[in-house]
Amino acid sequence: MAVTGGVDTQEHWSGRAAFILAAVGSAVGLGNLVRFPYVAGDNGGGAFVLIYLATIILIGLPVLVAELIIGRRGGGSAIAAVSRLAKAEGKSGLWAIFPIIGLIASFLILSYYSVLAGWVLHFIFLSIGDLAGNVGENGLSALGATAFANSTDPEISGQLGELISSPTRQIVMHGLFMAVTVLIVSRGIKGGIETAAKFLMPIFFALLLILLVFSLVEGNAGQAADFLFAPDFSKVSGEMILAAVGQAFFSLSLGSAMMITYGLYMNRDDNIPGASRIVAVSDTMVALIAGLALFPIIFASPVLTQSILTAAETGDDPGLGLLFVTVPVAFHQMPFGAIFGIAFFIMTLFAALTSAIALLETSVAWWDGDIDLDAKSRERRRVMGAIILGGVAFLLGVGHALSQVPAGQDTFFNTWVPLHGVPLFEGLTFLDFVDTLTAKILLPFGGVMTALFAGWVLSRASAKEETGFASERMFTIWRFLVRFVAPAVVAIVMLYGIFG
Ligand code: TRP
Repeated sequence: MAVTGGVDTQEHWSGRAAFILAAVGSAVGLGNLVRFPYVAGDNGGGAFVLIYLATIILIGLPVLVAELIIGRRGGGSAIAAVSRLAKAEGKSGLWAIFPIIGLIASFLILSYYSVLAGWVLHFIFLSIGDLAGNVGENGLSALGATAFANSTDPEISGQLGELISSPTRQIVMHGLFMAVTVLIVSRGIKGGIETAAKFLMPIFFALLLILLVFSLVEGNAGQAADFLFAPDFSKVSGEMILAAVGQAFFSLSLGSAMMITYGLYMNRDDNIPGASRIVAVSDTMVALIAGLALFPIIFASPVLTQSILTAAETGDDPGLGLLFVTVPVAFHQMPFGAIFGIAFFIMTLFAALTSAIALLETSVAWWDGDIDLDAKSRERRRVMGAIILGGVAFLLGVGHALSQVPAGQDTFFNTWVPLHGVPLFEGLTFLDFVDTLTAKILLPFGGVMTALFAGWVLSRASAKEETGFASERMFTIWRFLVRFVAPAVVAIVMLYGIFG
């Protein structure tokens, strides 16, 4: 029940474990499995990892606590929560602008996240089809084969190009993924989101550990550990700190009203600092383990090693190419690579799904509204909301998919540069434009405002009561971090990101 009053018709998590699984599910996604390993390697390995850990502790964790207390204390939707809390403290309801912008950010992220998850789905079908064909021809012994056993390296690297050249294929996969997301969110907190997290997350963790063991045994673990963890302090720079802050925000799903939304459904007696710590530690562990599961396999091949190291030297970010070009080729040279490759992509799909669910839930919670309806009408309203909002995100996603089609065929979106002439957005087509807009402007803005709100608008007494820190000292440290450190550092990051 929200402290600020109102009728409590809101659904709640069935318990602490359910909340933690759902929140970890939202945090763990493509950001951990693809973005972290590469950004870490590219930024000097161990030195970056140390700075990243400091960023998580000093900025990510305090802001996560701030988002959860705002949600639980305010109730309703992220927007209603902020506006009510501001009024209860005698401050302007205009503060609600920041969760509105956050909500738009999570909606925009969803629109392209689903397209990328669709690519993952495509690779699952592709590799299962390939393995099945191989087993059909050669019997069960083919299970021990490498991924895409009958293809050459160039054929495998070309698969991403083939996929993005086909708008239909991309859109069908994106549609399938979005439909599953809508279905789960339409079933509500306990029946949908929790059930999905309880099913998907344990399988995700099991697959991650299996892949880690496989990779350490079969791959080149030494070189991977070197690449990821050997600190190269000569690479520490402003740029690197910015990279760490950006990665921390994206990975913990902060600054987008999403964690405020999951906070809405927390129970009064749940301990927010404790739960936040578990979410942040799990998210960080998954990022580190993902790096240790991927790079040994990649470094088992001299050719791939060369391409990764050259890219790190030249600062030429392979981005999604790491997942869709390098990884399939890497599994092509491993024994049992076919099976482990499929496991890897299924694991990635599950992680992406629990993140997409959280992104859609943020808007659906707003659609649900703060009104007093009987259970049946609430249910119907939620189903409508999930379908309509998921549908609009799907349509935007079609634009993202079309923006990826190579220049040969004109799809309008692959030549359209939305903010032509603005340096930050120069040359960016729709998907990259939205990615830059959210990651460099909207999320950091949301982060600064969240920290300021929790540190300056909420009174000391309200914040103390809601956070429930066990020790006075921890509370004082947290409050100092959200009042001064987080807003200052993130604001600098944002300005540097825009003008630097
Ligand atoms: N954290 C997720 C990842 O690492 C992505 C994500 C989910 C996200 N919800 C978000 C990012 C909200 C920013 C804001 O892949």
